Amino acid sequence: MSENSTLVTERHFEYIRQRTTPEDKLLAELKLAARAKGIPPIWVAPEQASLMQILLRAACAREVIEVGTLAGYSAIAMARALPVGGRVRTIELEPKHASFAREWVAKADLAEHCGRVEVYEGSGATVLEGFEACSADAAFLDADKASYPLYLEHSLRIVRPGGLIMVDNAFAFGQLFDDKPSDREAPAVRAFNEHMSRQSGLQSVIVPIGDGLWVGVVL
Ligand SMILES: C[S@@+](CC[C@H](N)C(=O)[O-])C[C@H]1O[C@@H](n2cnc3c(N)ncnc32)[C@H](O)[C@@H]1O
Repeated sequence: MSENSTLVTERHFEYIRQRTTPEDKLLAELKLAARAKGIPPIWVAPEQASLMQILLRAACAREVIEVGTLAGYSAIAMARALPVGGRVRTIELEPKHASFAREWVAKADLAEHCGRVEVYEGSGATVLEGFEACSADAAFLDADKASYPLYLEHSLRIVRPGGLIMVDNAFAFGQLFDDKPSDREAPAVRAFNEHMSRQSGLQSVIVPIGDGLWVGVVL
């Protein structure tokens, strides 16, 4: 273990979970409904959503882009941290996920209290191409891992200097150090972590929350 670091165990994670601002009721209901519809429970953990909300508030973010909507959990959570008039543009490949997310975005009744969510159905790479340069204050990448380098390249164009780039699953679904990882995306995550760590245009760190969250500031 390195100087001034504490080995974070499952007990610490539980301790953090119990002391994080609780998840709102709608997001808890969304997860139950998504499971009932057969949508895989691979949304971010509540404490990770809370950290992302704090970072967005601290960055005074208004415009956020996301690749990987799934059921809309992280998109709605992020929108709740934006001011009225703010927006999360979130991209989802699977029509079933996009339609479920739209339904729950409507239920969340966001626009009057905070930012809104717009769900774009399509592939991350294609939709990102259509987003203007410097049109976002933050990005959250949470889709197919092999495309992360391409999503990062787009994010560096779309997110303004001083904005945030957050990328999920830096710990490769818990298999970062496995000799033979069973998850087929684990090698892509490892390669991306090396790629991300070499970006000169970003100050970045992996935060050990959830499955490891890259947080970078565009320089
Ligand atoms: C881990 S889930 C996203 C979870 C969501 N960010 C949350 O925390 O609530 C990944 C999503 O990315 C979607 N996806 C996979 N490949 C994609 C692509 N090429 N373009 C856009 N979305 C994609 C999947 O269908 C899935 O819904």
